Amino acid sequence: MAVGVFDSGLGGLTVLDAVSNRLPEVPFVYLADSAHAPYGVRDAQNIYDLTTASVVRLFDAGCDLVILACNTASAAALRRMQESWIPTDKRVLGVFVPLIEALTERQWGDNSPPREVAVQHVALFATPATVSSRAFQRELAFRAIGVDVEAQACGGVVDAIEDGDMILAEALVRSHVDALKRKMPDPEAAILGCTHYPLMEDTFQDALGSGVQVFSQANLVAESLADYLQRHPDKIGAGTESRFLTTGDPDRVSVRATQFLRRPITFEAA
Ligand code: DGL
Repeated sequence: MAVGVFDSGLGGLTVLDAVSNRLPEVPFVYLADSAHAPYGVRDAQNIYDLTTASVVRLFDAGCDLVILACNTASAAALRRMQESWIPTDKRVLGVFVPLIEALTERQWGDNSPPREVAVQHVALFATPATVSSRAFQRELAFRAIGVDVEAQACGGVVDAIEDGDMILAEALVRSHVDALKRKMPDPEAAILGCTHYPLMEDTFQDALGSGVQVFSQANLVAESLADYLQRHPDKIGAGTESRFLTTGDPDRVSVRATQFLRRPITFEAA
């Protein structure tokens, strides 16, 4: 029995940590497509091709349910995959919806018409591909009215994190927050719309100021997955052990992952 968790690189480990803490009895197979990270600078067709190839690897590893712990893949590829690609006995879920449900104070499956919510000025930090897809604004518009979203494409941050250059990552986050604030001086909430960014959450919060509520996805996705598996226990697939797979260099990826999560993690070649 295993559930797949996919990201272009290490960012999805922030989600993996939360889901494995919430569901300790479920084995997870994590796949990092490190050979092709970052996805955020690629076009939608390329992201679709890479994402579907990775999801097939996770199906082959015994996962019937795969979480795209990558906003870029969720934004650029998930809808198309759900419309025409996913086999009927498999499920692929993204990371956007739990976050938007939290922001709009909705319970899972509440499909009532869009309504006014507490926040009106929201800053979205995400990769260039996620920002240009406008998937966040589309999902938000189904649920809320009167919310002004200002998006900042945070070029370079994922590369710096993947390279372990946290000094550069911090400088880039501060400059992206400054750029956002020039467009929207007083956001009430900020969305970390890339699963790499929780690794920089303190920097985002510091640069935004303590008055801004920062939403990040890991715990929201964990709650949503727990709820989903309760309703669909058959979707825990045939795999029985937790594994970490990468399309990149397993030794290099293991070192970085161990640094980020502060516990030993050993990747194997996908
Ligand atoms: N963690 C991915 C996301 O949530 C990173 C995207 C990338 O590879 O650029 O968007």
